[in-house]
Amino acid sequence: MSVTHLWQSRLEALQRKASVRILALETSCDETAAAIVENGRRVISSVIFSQVDVHALYGGVVPEIASRAHVDACDRVIDQALREAGMTLADVDALAVTYGPGLVGALLTGVSCMKGLSFATGLPLIPVNHIEGHVSANYLSNPQLAPPFICLVVSGGHSHLVRVEDYGRYTLLGQTVDDAAGEAFDKGARALGLPYPGGPLLSQLAQGGDASALKMPRPNPAGRFDFSFSGLKTAFINACHKLEQKGMPLPKADYAASYQQAIVDSLCDKAVLAVHESGLDTLCLAGGVSANQCLRSQMQILAAREGFKLCLPELWLCTDNAAMIGSAAYYRLLRGEIASLSLNAVPALTLLS
Ligand code: KG4
Ligand code: ZN
Repeated sequence: MSVTHLWQSRLEALQRKASVRILALETSCDETAAAIVENGRRVISSVIFSQVDVHALYGGVVPEIASRAHVDACDRVIDQALREAGMTLADVDALAVTYGPGLVGALLTGVSCMKGLSFATGLPLIPVNHIEGHVSANYLSNPQLAPPFICLVVSGGHSHLVRVEDYGRYTLLGQTVDDAAGEAFDKGARALGLPYPGGPLLSQLAQGGDASALKMPRPNPAGRFDFSFSGLKTAFINACHKLEQKGMPLPKADYAASYQQAIVDSLCDKAVLAVHESGLDTLCLAGGVSANQCLRSQMQILAAREGFKLCLPELWLCTDNAAMIGSAAYYRLLRGEIASLSLNAVPALTLLS
């Protein structure tokens, strides 16, 4: 039997197997994470090592430091994920790794680590798109969920509105024309003197504030499902600077609440429009910003009022983790998408590539 036939028959055996356990690694930005996921739906174990304390010193992610920290942490998070699952590599059916989009050095550490592990163990390696991973977090939190549905993917680097036609098949409806929603949260937080990553801190601060205190624009770019946050961000930073120049104290909670409300309104308006126009009945949220309580509760109110189903990933599945990569990998395995040892990091990978 030729090598190709051997791989093909092993792949077909895996595709028929009742329980497929995938060990996944995620290193695209500043989290080193490993997880073991069964059949794309059940998290057996998940370990997330965050580098946020290191990068907070510099006010943002320093790519070189991120790469070095991943090199240190990869083996440890994989060992811990296996230990917590009560498994060894012999119990694993396949490996998965994020190969893009993200920081090139950070991605390369994960890709190299998993290629090495695949070579040493003979386990097939599944390449996963990080954004697809965020979408797939919904399969873990909502066991009955199946495509088609609309998904709003809002993270530190991406703001996409997509129609998920099938597993691994997407139509891009709209995206940000400038900054990502998470970036807007983080830059606004910085103007309020909050440390990196400021999104969650701004959101906490906003809880005690009056969202109508500061009038903020509601940008509406030409694309019907596109977002724009750059003008809003500049208007907010200018408003903060204006008070500072006058030596007046910043009403931080009110400002945070007003700014957050403008971002959330934009996301909600476009997402609800997309659901209505699609004729579909389900909207999923994904990515770090989907952990935002204001966004989650406003979407819940809109879903109840407009009559569509809303899927929200559990909070820990919104931000970067490897369980979502293990979920996406399972459906790629079913489609026969296995990487060769020439797999490389693709920093600018898109959801449609
Ligand atoms: O998905 P993610 O963990 O990493 C990327 O793929 O980018 O998203 C991180 C982003 C950061 O910008 C962070 O500030 C934002 O998600 N974020 C939040 C909240 N939690 C995380 N933004 C607003 N409110 C939150 N609760
Ligand atoms: Zn992410």
